[in-house]
Amino acid sequence: MSQLAPGRPDQIAADLRAAFERRYAAPATVVGRAPGRVNLIGEHTDYNRGRVLPLALPHATYVAAAPRTDGRARFASLQDDATWEGTLAEAGPGGPTGWAAYAAGVLWALGEAGIEVPGVDVLVDGRVPLGAGLSSSAALECSVAVAVLALAGRDLDAATRRLAIDACIRAETEVAGAPTGGMDQTVAVLGEPGAALLVDFDTDETRPVPLALDGLTLLVTDTRVSHELTDGGYAARRADCEAAAAELGVPSLRQADLAAVERISDERVRARARHVVTETDRVLPVAEALTRGDRDAVAELFAASHASMRDDFEISCDELDAAVAVAVEAGAVGARMTGGGFGGSSVALVPDERVEAVMRAIDTEFALRGFAAPAHLVAVPSAGAG
Ligand code: ADP
Ligand code: GAL
Repeated sequence: MSQLAPGRPDQIAADLRAAFERRYAAPATVVGRAPGRVNLIGEHTDYNRGRVLPLALPHATYVAAAPRTDGRARFASLQDDATWEGTLAEAGPGGPTGWAAYAAGVLWALGEAGIEVPGVDVLVDGRVPLGAGLSSSAALECSVAVAVLALAGRDLDAATRRLAIDACIRAETEVAGAPTGGMDQTVAVLGEPGAALLVDFDTDETRPVPLALDGLTLLVTDTRVSHELTDGGYAARRADCEAAAAELGVPSLRQADLAAVERISDERVRARARHVVTETDRVLPVAEALTRGDRDAVAELFAASHASMRDDFEISCDELDAAVAVAVEAGAVGARMTGGGFGGSSVALVPDERVEAVMRAIDTEFALRGFAAPAHLVAVPSAGAG
């Protein structure tokens, strides 16, 4: 059974500082940290101005950095041999490619937001599995942002956190070219220990939701089916949602009601919109159920959400369907796929004493069906970037 530990932050930071000094022959002056996330409910609702309920994972990305006086930037990662070097002016759209687009793109976006970004040397160590639907990309962006903001002399107050979120979203959409919403960056910066973060993308309001997890574990299973948000599937879903809103004559699907959605002419577009509208309506009930510890309500809402993503939004796959079904058969209270879909991870709410059995049952099913061996991790609600 493979279970991914988050590692000890102080140890990871110390090792990263040593690696930085070996690489750049000078000490790092700051280490930024930003977590991955798992979303509990509200999938593909963020770019439709809906609600989401993610939490920050203990698994995070760490960035060691030191300023340079020549206005140049150098980026390297312990997870990828490719490096990037250029001027700050070259870090924007059309500049860095591959992983460096997410990282160096943040320098450009912070500059656009009026921050005096110094030249910088950067070394990254990510403990969020890559491409697992747990937002390693947002963790990378936000860890770069908090490190660079510290070098620029900014305290991480509420206004600076908001600025960091917006800059990281711009790096992801405009430099890396992934047409995502803002959920991942928002929770990577604003996550709080012990709580999920309720975000309403119609008003941009955020509220921590303390989770009653006594006797319960949030178990995440990475199916190892790797998704790419820069592939066409995500953008196609987004385009269908925009087509649905246009046909209904509303600015976004947040303003659409289900009766109107059921009259949309195209069957596929209608199903996509049905998912978005019903999914946003599930977010507050899940938040309430998880606050009260109401297991029956969570079971029902998670099941409805997964079915909606599988049948109406069509973003699940055999591995995710299997992980969800087997988790429930083996004793989970409820389970659903989480994140952008087309692979990635599931999340299950499991009584503590059933966690081993659930992991074992999923591993056995995956082996029987010839799927790659999955990896599990425990999602302890953790702090946002710092
Ligand atoms: P997810 O965000 O769900 O993990 P994405 O496909 O959106 O999946 O983002 C994964 C991409 O982010 C990787 O392919 C890589 O380009 C980049 N990335 C994330 N973490 C790191 C890291 N530690 N080192 C290098 N690249 C990283
Ligand atoms: C990705 C994307 C988010 C959100 C999610 C689905 O993680 O980055 O913005 O749309 O998929 O809920």
